[in-house]
Parts: sequence; structure tokens; C-alpha cells
Amino acid sequence: MRHISNIIMAKSSSNRNLHSAKTSKKDEFYTQLSDIEKEVRHYKDHFRGKVVLCNCDDPRVSNFFHYFSYNFEQLGLKKLIATCYKNQNTDLFSDHKSEEAVYLVYTGDKNGDNIPNPEEIGIKKLKGDGDFRSKECIELLKECDIVVTNPPFSLFREFVELIMEYDKKFLIIGNLNAITYKELFKLIKENKLWLGYSIHSGDREFMVPSDYPLNAAGSRIDEKGNKFIRVKGVRWFTNLDYTERHEDLILYKTYKGNEIDYPRYDNYNAINVDKTKDIPVDYDGVIGVPITFLDKFNPSQFELVKFRKGEDDKDLSINGRCPYFRILIRKK
Ligand SMILES: C[S@@+](CC[C@H](N)C(=O)[O-])C[C@H]1O[C@@H](n2cnc3c(N)ncnc32)[C@H](O)[C@@H]1O
Repeated sequence: MRHISNIIMAKSSSNRNLHSAKTSKKDEFYTQLSDIEKEVRHYKDHFRGKVVLCNCDDPRVSNFFHYFSYNFEQLGLKKLIATCYKNQNTDLFSDHKSEEAVYLVYTGDKNGDNIPNPEEIGIKKLKGDGDFRSKECIELLKECDIVVTNPPFSLFREFVELIMEYDKKFLIIGNLNAITYKELFKLIKENKLWLGYSIHSGDREFMVPSDYPLNAAGSRIDEKGNKFIRVKGVRWFTNLDYTERHEDLILYKTYKGNEIDYPRYDNYNAINVDKTKDIPVDYDGVIGVPITFLDKFNPSQFELVKFRKGEDDKDLSINGRCPYFRILIRKK
């Protein structure tokens, strides 16, 4: 399959420095096509007749634009919009400043070859730098039904707040640690945001810019010279429903007779569990579980009570020592 970047290159005034200049930022890592495919296929019904916005996506490098343009007909999309952010950070590459931010609009195949051709993709200039928070990008946000992207982690909280404010559906990739933000936990507790289908453990590979230092384990350079790193704790976050998240977690451990395995917190009337699989089947009170519990969370089986803090608003502790962040849950 021809990569969409070739098409865009052919049409827009490409500037290698656009990509290079961004490399100064650690936010620059690009989602693999296979990870996007593995996730989106669980939501196909949600996409029919919808306008999709990828609002942190330089179409020259983004596999999100690539995926949705090539699968436009199969998903039955109405419209695809991608905005490209122009980094104003000129400390490394001063000529980058002259590059214009653009957005792309694709409304599907016109010539019957089922491929997004250059003449079928509209490239439009943005007035500003393509910041997803800018007025013109918010206008595009208003127009869309579903936001799908990998936003910069440094702005993840703000990103989620904005799409919630505009009441949009979303499917975004980020780091599980984001749920430690109280704003995000609140959304999970209220069943307005949950984890996606396909990633629940291990790490995932992301492409990084050419000047990215490759010192982490598992990083590699492919035969074309593209660099990749592996990132732990990656998850999809969404408010698109899917069947599997309504399946009960099967529990087999018992509290009765094993009380010693379930210490109580000093500052909350709850027992501690270190592994989700050890949640006792016969305990009806509050239970503290690790945040990876959310990978198995069925909102009909459990309710989320509180995050991290005891009655005294200090971190949950056992005999004066704090285990890792815990989510307090209760069986429904
Ligand atoms: C983690 S990367 C992911 C890129 C792309 N979505 C992908 O997955 O391949 C985040 C992207 O957001 C862009 N970005 C950073 N700040 C932004 C902002 N305020 N508005 C829009 N995009 C931004 C970065 O330049 C970067 O390319």
C-alpha cells in the first residue's frame, strides 16, 4: 500500500525541516498503523456516516490519516479531517518558522479506484499554527463526530477536557498514568471515559524522529533508517462502547479464611489487593486495587469509589507505608 505521505508530498509544498524541527520535542512519536488497525476494528459500527477528526496529525507522518483515508469506504465515513501542528519552537531549526500549518479534508473516493488520490484530498491553509486549542481548530472540532489521534502527552489532560467540553466521541492513545490526573479519574468514575479494547499489557513500538536518542531497551532502526522506541503503559482511551467491556471479571479467591492476605488501610475502611486477579469473590466492602484493574473493569460488576486517598485525604497507607496508587472499588 502506498503511504499517504507520498500523496501529500506530491501535493503540498513539503519541507523536510518541518519534521526535523519538531524533533526537538519529546512529544514526537508516531503511532504504528498496525496498532491503529487493531483498535479501530472493534468500533466499526460507530464510524458509519461519521466525520472523523485527527487533530494532532501531520498527514505526512500520521498513520491515523493514512488509516482513515484508505479505509474510508469500508468504514462508511462521511468526512475525514486532519490538522497539522506547526511547532513554533525555532531554537533548533530557525527556517521552520516560514512553514504554514495546514489541514486536510477527504470526503472519499471519486474516481472508483478506492485509493485517496492527491486530487481527491483538499489541502487548506490554517491561519494559526494548528494548535488543537485554537479557534479555527475548535471550529473543525465542532464539525466532527469522533476525534481519533495520539495527542501530545504533555497536553493530554487539556486535550481530553476540550473534547469533553464539546461533547465529542473519541478514541485516543496515551499513557495509563494519565488516569492519575484527578480530572481523568472523575470521568472514568462517572463512566464517561474508559480504556479501549486492544492494549492491556506490555509495551508498544512508536516511530520517532531521526535525531531522537535511541538508548532505551528495545529501540531499533529499520532497513530504511526509521527509528523506533518501545513505550510501556500505553492504552487507548475512549467513550465508544464495545461489548467486551461489559463482560464480568471471573474471580476465584476468597476472603474468608484468607484474611491475612488482605491487609486493611490505616486511613480507609478497605482491604488492599496487589493483583486484580486476587480480588476476593466473597468480599462486599471496599477494596483497593492497582490502576491496571481498569483493564478488566466492567461498570456493571464494580463501582469505582475513590482514587488514591484515604479519609484523611492522604495517600492510602498500610502500617504507615503507602503501596502504589490504588483505586478503591466495590462490587455492585
Ligand atoms: C505523540 S505525537 C503523535 C502524532 C500522531 N498523532 C501520531 O500518532 O502519529 C503528538 C503530536 O501532536 C503535535 N502537537 C504538539 N502540540 C500540539 C498542539 N498544541 N496542537 C496540535 N498538535 C500538537 C506534535 O507535534 C506531535 O506530532
